[in-house]
Amino acid sequence: MKQNIDWNKLSFHYTETDYVVRSACRDGVWEKPYATEDKTITLHVAATGLQYGQQVFEGLKAFRGADGQVRVFRMEENARRMARSAEGLLMTPPPVEVFCEAIRLALRKNIDFLPPYETGATLYFRPVLIATAPEIAVAPEKDCELIVIPTPIGAYFPGKFHCTPFVVERHIDRAAAFGTGQFKVGGNYASSFRATEAAHAKGFDCMFTDSKTHRYIDECSAANFIGIKGNEYLTPRSSAILPSITNDSLMTLARELGMKVTRRHIRVEELAEMDEAAACGTACVISPIGKVYDPDKEITYHFGEKPGPILTRLYHALKDIQYGRCEDKYGWCEVIKV
Ligand SMILES: Cc1ncc(COP(=O)(O)O)c(C=O)c1O
Repeated sequence: MKQNIDWNKLSFHYTETDYVVRSACRDGVWEKPYATEDKTITLHVAATGLQYGQQVFEGLKAFRGADGQVRVFRMEENARRMARSAEGLLMTPPPVEVFCEAIRLALRKNIDFLPPYETGATLYFRPVLIATAPEIAVAPEKDCELIVIPTPIGAYFPGKFHCTPFVVERHIDRAAAFGTGQFKVGGNYASSFRATEAAHAKGFDCMFTDSKTHRYIDECSAANFIGIKGNEYLTPRSSAILPSITNDSLMTLARELGMKVTRRHIRVEELAEMDEAAACGTACVISPIGKVYDPDKEITYHFGEKPGPILTRLYHALKDIQYGRCEDKYGWCEVIKV
């Protein structure tokens, strides 16, 4: 049962809920997702998930709307992305229906942990897929388990929607070109820690560049990059970045505003020509960038102390859909009866 959670004090950290939802796949057959209070897994010591990092995950949110309804945002897209990530590591992809059923069950079983509308807090789901079969030969295994871990998380911008500084990273790569960066693989995050922690120590977030030439913008910590140049919405094309579902949604909304949307290689120096810049992802929707410091070139690109008008508009437009404050014309939200 929910203890007294101060919804306004939550941040992006794990808070335990009553149940997780699990479904194992053996010999290609998925079991029906079930809820359990057991938050531990018994894993064979030689499981390839543990030995060789055969593990992928996802992240998505449920929102209590202004109208009291409960919505989950683009769940099927997360299911499809998990399937692509699983295929990328030669794991068994969970069927979209198994994934979605697990999320719905996790929501219903933990409904007391869905924060009230006014708080801006949400219930975040972390589905994780891990290969469970033992093997010491360096080879992939197909048996795996899907576990959906729910946790309430605080509003990303509890006070004002504000800007963050970034630093350009050219000496540590998050993921290789044509490697696993396009998949949501745990190892990508472990390999980003050295750079992100070093950036944090200096008061910045980390802007990764492409691992081949280090000339182009790849990602902003664990988020995609967006630049606004006049009436153009720019976002990087790269074989090493995770296709963000938030970015995809914002591109649709930008087109709706009459903007030109371009996905292409973006040189770091092009920041000088942009009016607004941001990181985007499920956690923040949009996190505007105040400035980007390039230590190798000793240049700082400034975007101002306050979020720009176009990003602010896009931010509110997407949040309005997630909270049921406007029409969901693209059918992005599933209303869940709880
Ligand atoms: C590396 C990385 N890039 C981008 C994103 C943003 O993706 P999404 O908008 O689907 O949350 C995430 C978060 O999932 C991420 O971990």
